[in-house]
Amino acid sequence: MISPETYTSYKGLPPLAGLCTMAEAAKPGLSVEECVRRLKRFHYAFKRLHQILMARITSEPIYELKTAFAHHAYLCAEHVTALRTRIGEMREPPLGLEDVPHPALEAYFDEMLNAPTKYLLIGLYSHSLGWLFTAVEKYEVATHPLTDAPSKRLLKFAKIELEEMYQFGGKVFSLLGVPGDMREWFTTVLDVMLIEAGELSGPPMPPASGERKPLDASTINTSHPVIDAVTDSGNIRGLTPPTRRYSKTPFVYNPVPQRDERFTDSWNQGVNAEAFLYDETKPASAKVLMMLYKRLREIDVPEMMASIIAQTPGKPWGYYRDMSRQVWDEARHAMMGEVGFVALGVDWTKATVTWNWSYRLNTECTPMERHGVLFFIEQGLMPKTGKRYEYEVARDSGFPLAATLQDFDWADEVLHSQIGRQWYVPEFASLKEALDFGDRAWSKVLSNWITVKQQGLTQHNNWWPEVYEQACVSAGQSPDPAVLAFAETYEGKRADLQRIAAE
Ligand SMILES: [Fe+2]
Ligand SMILES: [Fe+2]
Repeated sequence: MISPETYTSYKGLPPLAGLCTMAEAAKPGLSVEECVRRLKRFHYAFKRLHQILMARITSEPIYELKTAFAHHAYLCAEHVTALRTRIGEMREPPLGLEDVPHPALEAYFDEMLNAPTKYLLIGLYSHSLGWLFTAVEKYEVATHPLTDAPSKRLLKFAKIELEEMYQFGGKVFSLLGVPGDMREWFTTVLDVMLIEAGELSGPPMPPASGERKPLDASTINTSHPVIDAVTDSGNIRGLTPPTRRYSKTPFVYNPVPQRDERFTDSWNQGVNAEAFLYDETKPASAKVLMMLYKRLREIDVPEMMASIIAQTPGKPWGYYRDMSRQVWDEARHAMMGEVGFVALGVDWTKATVTWNWSYRLNTECTPMERHGVLFFIEQGLMPKTGKRYEYEVARDSGFPLAATLQDFDWADEVLHSQIGRQWYVPEFASLKEALDFGDRAWSKVLSNWITVKQQGLTQHNNWWPEVYEQACVSAGQSPDPAVLAFAETYEGKRADLQRIAAE
């Protein structure tokens, strides 16, 4: 007699295209409607996580967190994209993808958006990623492995990256010394909100699976002062609106870049990197060091681009996805510089990484003007004197790692030019108008070389000789006197450093 347990496929080959056993497939699963409802919640969670991470890149001082936020924001953006596509396949017009699934869920993410950094880390990496992982696991158990195989597939990839981000957060807590009572306090605040919202899966609650038990109001530490008021009401689930702590007032985006204590003299414009790079008399080996500095200095690009994304609402999702990819690329470019310095045995903190560019654009230009400046610069990187030239210098430098870095940097910049053509240029009647707008916007931010010196913010010290000498010592070579003597500054130059590279 045939039964799901005894059924055999041809020669015992894996049945059902390898998705699952016949016994597993012979049971009903979630309805399309229920799948869509839960997937919309996952979509909302990833969208808010993306927003929160992106909104904190610029003002986060710690370089390792700044770059990780750029990475994780991008990962979340990719999962948003995948979920939007999948939900659109599930008989669901109108999609309602911009709707808030539950006011308490909105408050839950608002709390993280508004929280001071250590609380942000707790909420994001400890609480929300863990509970999102659990909600996805529950979905995987409850949905039908054959009928809903496309959803299961994309959630499998989401879980891999949720786990990676969660692990990253765990290391951050232990190394940055996030106190346990701080974690307990904010976790409790978030627990209350998540219970109110019906967790990330939303009501009705499915049976628990895996290690993580469903949140239970009775397990909350009711003696905690934060929730005394809540529990006094005797009705946690009935709370409306949820009790906000940090998000009582709307989030105010901070566009001012911050750096950690390894970054000093942040207004210094004392070393004109492009003047050195395009000097035909300078050797490629030294030019590579200057190029690595230029890569490292690119930490100002995610600082600036994150502000465009944070301050430009209402665009199609594709805009945010593509711009987020570019933010991540630019953070990688900065880290390429860091890697290069380390590989050459040079202390990168001796090379002054100015914030002049991101600081001034973020505080003196509109988001559209910033985008215009970015596009104008990136178009300038495409001619032969731009990224191709940098790659060729690296290739000929005798430092193979530099060629790898510049090869991919070049490829990324071609992509960025295309992103600009897709999302920036159509705002104008022509490509020329789009370029002119960026050029004019850039002219608004005239060189502040004298101003910052007069204000005592910097003396524009020439850091180059020390850095170059360190590289020579590491390589066991004698410094070239002409290279060592380089002392050209940005004085009198318009501040668009990269534009010089394009000309
Ligand atoms: Fe870049
Ligand atoms: Fe770029």
